[in-house]
Amino acid sequence: MKSYKAKMVEPIELPSREEREAALERAGYNAFNLDARDVYIDLLTDSGTGTMSAEQWAAMIRGDEAYAGSESFARLADSVRDVMGFEHVVPTHQGRGAENVLYGVLLEDGDVVPNNSHFDTTRAHVVNQGAEPVDCPSPASRDPNSTETFKGNFDIDAGYALVEEVGADAIPVVVLTITNNSVAGQPVSMANIRATAEFARDIDAMFVIDACRFAENAHFIKTNEAGYENHSVAEIARAQFEHADAITMSGKKDALVNIGGFAAMRDETVFEHAKQRAILYEGFPTYGGLSGRDIEAMAVGLREAVTPPYVTDRVEQVAELGDLLVEAGVPVYQPTGGHAVYLDAGEVFPHVPKDEYPGQQLVCALYLEGGVRGVELGGFAFPGTDRPDLVRLALPRRTYSREHLEHVAETAAKVMASAGEYGGLEIVEEPPMKELRHFSARLEPVSN
Ligand code: F0G
Repeated sequence: MKSYKAKMVEPIELPSREEREAALERAGYNAFNLDARDVYIDLLTDSGTGTMSAEQWAAMIRGDEAYAGSESFARLADSVRDVMGFEHVVPTHQGRGAENVLYGVLLEDGDVVPNNSHFDTTRAHVVNQGAEPVDCPSPASRDPNSTETFKGNFDIDAGYALVEEVGADAIPVVVLTITNNSVAGQPVSMANIRATAEFARDIDAMFVIDACRFAENAHFIKTNEAGYENHSVAEIARAQFEHADAITMSGKKDALVNIGGFAAMRDETVFEHAKQRAILYEGFPTYGGLSGRDIEAMAVGLREAVTPPYVTDRVEQVAELGDLLVEAGVPVYQPTGGHAVYLDAGEVFPHVPKDEYPGQQLVCALYLEGGVRGVELGGFAFPGTDRPDLVRLALPRRTYSREHLEHVAETAAKVMASAGEYGGLEIVEEPPMKELRHFSARLEPVSN
């Protein structure tokens, strides 16, 4: 049952088939290059695209725009302490700002960083510090059809194998991403959070959590992990961070805002160094590239994210989209994750070879058939990896209704019905940094 109603609306329109064809061609078959007004249902990302609450809008009026020592910052620091249990907070303009600040302090040339799976910007920031990102996803995550819970876990054995290979001294930081966005938004169990913390301690590394979707992860622990059924989401959310030395956070996810982020940590020295780096890249450490009103909205949103029934509604809506797609005969990665449904493009277009980007073609087909925008998170976005060609349909928070979801499922069914008509794509233009190519590359249908 929905626990909110709309207070403000924004018109959307489905362009004609001809207009969609022309828009896709103009965009170089890359959904990032589409104009938002040409998109009917925008599932490109759940990042900063959600609907804020009346309380968040009200708090924005209170924003204290002081350059230094703003009261809004004090309220954010209170929220981070209460909800996540960290004393020290460095606000940043968004999650990647937090990555730049924290990893710039913790990493050096030649370091190696294991993570259950790096998100693309995390990977790029690790590389930018001269370090090597290594993914250690759980073996269970490789099977898109197994309904095992907690497929987002860190593979501790893979972590120790990496230590054997490069030596513990090369690994100053171990990262855990909750939920695991690059692995179909799958959650991480509390047992695995503890085991990863122990692994980090054992090799004398710092344990950092990428906390973007911490409330959604807490929901899965409450629902699926024995011993947590009677704990509140707020208690579980906090317990997740008990063993972490630091976190990076994108407020655009589970702080329910359109912009904002922060790094938080326990160690005083790391805090001092992070503040210095933040001044260089983000702004004075009590505003971090944000206006006071943005910070107010984030302080309120963080608390709302762990207040029932917000997150139950949220994860159930994602599951509802997953069910509608399964009913429509679309191959969906199982189980559905916290923020998105992931489709297996390899199964939709078995005739399209992997090096002709079946995932990117599925993104294009969804747009052509119904004006739905998703994003490829397979061989196009992560070049050089053997990832399955998944397409993510991410739901903005508190934004779309059942009718919108039905349109998405109908659109996907149309793609399935005409799958044979779609061929592969080739890249015709790409930027120099390979890790970021999917944001701007241009493609064309393979001509044959
Ligand atoms: N870490 C994870 C796991 C993320 O999903 C993201 C962003 C970031 C870090 C960076 O945060 O965007 O605020 O700078 N993910 C968005 C997405 C962009 O579409 O999944 P940011």
